[in-house]
Amino acid sequence: MSSTNHPLPMNQSEKTELPERIPQHVAIIMDGNGRWAISRGLPRLAGHRAGTENLRRIIEACIEFKIRYLTIYAFSTENWGRPQEEVQGLMRILEDVIDREIQELHDQGVKLRHIGRLDRLDPRLQEKVLQAIEFTKDNNRLTLNVAFNYGGRDEIVCAIQHMLEDGVEAEDVSDELVSQYLFTAGVPDPDIIIRTSGELRGSNFLIWQGAYCEWIFTPTYWPDFDRTELLSALEEFSQRERRYGKIAENQGDLPQHAS
Ligand code: FPP
Repeated sequence: MSSTNHPLPMNQSEKTELPERIPQHVAIIMDGNGRWAISRGLPRLAGHRAGTENLRRIIEACIEFKIRYLTIYAFSTENWGRPQEEVQGLMRILEDVIDREIQELHDQGVKLRHIGRLDRLDPRLQEKVLQAIEFTKDNNRLTLNVAFNYGGRDEIVCAIQHMLEDGVEAEDVSDELVSQYLFTAGVPDPDIIIRTSGELRGSNFLIWQGAYCEWIFTPTYWPDFDRTELLSALEEFSQRERRYGKIAENQGDLPQHAS
């Protein structure tokens, strides 16, 4: 993302007809940065930089579409296994985003949250993340959850550890209580999870919170996933019927008629 100011594309927003049902919470697995770069003869990190540029555009579109929560998978607990140079590059990107973008995100009304474990990051970076969270904490236009050093299983393990530490009794454990112990406490579950790049996996992302989400997969690599594609995903969501394990209203048994 660059530090120049990009106003909302008002002429576009005036023209756009939004779907009937806008999801409250969109989560994204921003996949395909590496392949985007390799297909252009560039190093993988150039793909992550292009993916970061794209994030700015998608944040603006989310604000325009009045989505209230956006959760992005930026670095998984498994990503530590990537080459050192790529890991360091992703750490630098997080630092750059905070340094260069936090004022603009704040001006746009974005509240930054982190989900995952901060403790494995460099202490200076941890401090920056905490400062950025504090700086934007009163904003309420869009909550941006950055999953960084995040893993869904790790999150559940962490929740169990904290429940035991707090002396929670077995009979008091419920769906609601577990949710309150997750990194996403206080955030509604995602309505949709979008995964770019054609991979059809969940990859340890929001495994508890995504229990009833609608999945949307697109072959587009993340750096090319634009406002129009986001809008198509929203349209698809709007047409899906969410049943939460129940049946559709018109699919019950026919009423028994007296003969
Ligand atoms: C997956 O693509 C992407 C990542 C592991 C990193 C995503 C990070 C960004 C888009 C940068 C934004 C970051 C912050 C901190 C705001 P991949 O590398 O697995 O792609 P591939 O499957 O094509 O190799």
